[in-house]
Amino acid sequence: MANVFLIGAQWGDEGKGKIVDFLSSKKDIIVRFQGGNNAGHTVNIEEKKFVLHLIPSGILHKNKICVIGCGVVIDPKALLDEIDELTQRGIDINNRLKVSARAHVIFPYHKILDNVKEKKRGSDMIGTTCRGIGPAYVDKAMRMGLRMHDLVGDKEIFYKKLKQNIKEKNVLLEKVFETEGVDFESVYKEYIEYAEKLRKYVCDVVSYIHNNAEEEKSFLFEGAQGTLLDVDFGTYPYVTSSHPTIGGTFTGCGVSPKYVDNVLGIAKAYTTRVGKGPFVTELNDEIGKNLQEKGREFGATTGRPRRCGWFDALAVRYAVRVNGIDSLAITKLDILDGFKEIKICTSYKCGDKVIDQFPVDVTNCIPQYETIEGWNSPTDNIRDYKDLPEKAVKYINRLSELTGVKISIVSVGAKRQQTFFKDMIL
Ligand code: GDP
Ligand code: IMO
Ligand code: MG
Repeated sequence: MANVFLIGAQWGDEGKGKIVDFLSSKKDIIVRFQGGNNAGHTVNIEEKKFVLHLIPSGILHKNKICVIGCGVVIDPKALLDEIDELTQRGIDINNRLKVSARAHVIFPYHKILDNVKEKKRGSDMIGTTCRGIGPAYVDKAMRMGLRMHDLVGDKEIFYKKLKQNIKEKNVLLEKVFETEGVDFESVYKEYIEYAEKLRKYVCDVVSYIHNNAEEEKSFLFEGAQGTLLDVDFGTYPYVTSSHPTIGGTFTGCGVSPKYVDNVLGIAKAYTTRVGKGPFVTELNDEIGKNLQEKGREFGATTGRPRRCGWFDALAVRYAVRVNGIDSLAITKLDILDGFKEIKICTSYKCGDKVIDQFPVDVTNCIPQYETIEGWNSPTDNIRDYKDLPEKAVKYINRLSELTGVKISIVSVGAKRQQTFFKDMIL
């Protein structure tokens, strides 16, 4: 069976959780490969709403195995809270969660650093989720991070490594950021307790994945964040610290490009962004407000309002290229119901130039739009592509033309059944 690589094609929150849930029944193993609990992936099943932060959204399907790869940074408390919450809500995690021993661990000092760095930046802040994600990836690249292997392994070695790390971090916190350091003994004690609870999930994910691939199991790789938040390809420095793009799947769980059968990009029918940074099609007017209210655009992790704007074809076409996206799932089409006119950004005006390719720096680019007539009827009750209003089909077809790929899935509501295939991809 085909492996699907699911990637956010905008600035995150495209509805990845919902589409992962939609596709999970057809796959055996669902894998997260980057990010951490900065992610918030929402799945609505009947009247129940679940927000997953670290555990792949496939966990809501009985019998599916979920894997957290080495590219993910793990806050053990956040992971345990998520396991507890799911268990309390009747989701059986036992033997269904595998956590990479190679994944790096987030410690309290990472969260403090994330916060104090943001404060120090003042008006130039990134607008991070303050979950310690960036500082944890910094330690990984500095070769001083602690991995799940250290956390659940030899206590003496963990003790020594953590002590050394906290000694260094306290100097940084106290001398550079003029804030209180952390108490080594209490962090050690707290984390040893987490280790006891998490040990049973930790394994060598590379072997696990390859052994299962040899048994013809099929995989769904669940991206977090989105292409424009990628530390290399995104709107740097207003990005996250990982690779939510296709390359991140290989380094984030140890599979090779040979595994790729299908790259599915997820894009909203319009655009949103949470946190700071340039956003060319942002609407600071009534239309933007309307999109935010109708679309309930508030962060699933921090609750912050999401900035809203029209669909940016340059941005999504760029994501198509960077990731080799085969087809797109377009979500939240229903939110555009009733708009008299809908705009699509087809080029940018940057100084005296008009460009149609997403540039290195979008800061001073002005969007150039084409206008499509809206459809004046609801779509949220539609369950088949052929029943969509003609003008909605025209909109979808135009998005396909402008982004250069076919649209395989359309979503018209937050629920599982409000999703349908346009072109089969599996
Ligand atoms: P993710 O981070 O990409 O998984 O997306 P989030 O869960 O952060 O945000 C997407 C939001 O849109 C969630 O509240 C979903 O329940 C909701 N959603 C997803 N698809 C649709 C859709 O087609 N229509 C509507 N109205 N809501 C949707
Ligand atoms: P999902 O997986 C939207 C944004 C933050 C901030 C920037 C850096 O739900 O799509 P970080 O805490 O990662 O250092 O913050 O990235 N960000 C997201 N925006 N959806 C997400 O995840 C995000 N994860 C991080 O708002 O602008
Ligand atoms: Mg989200």
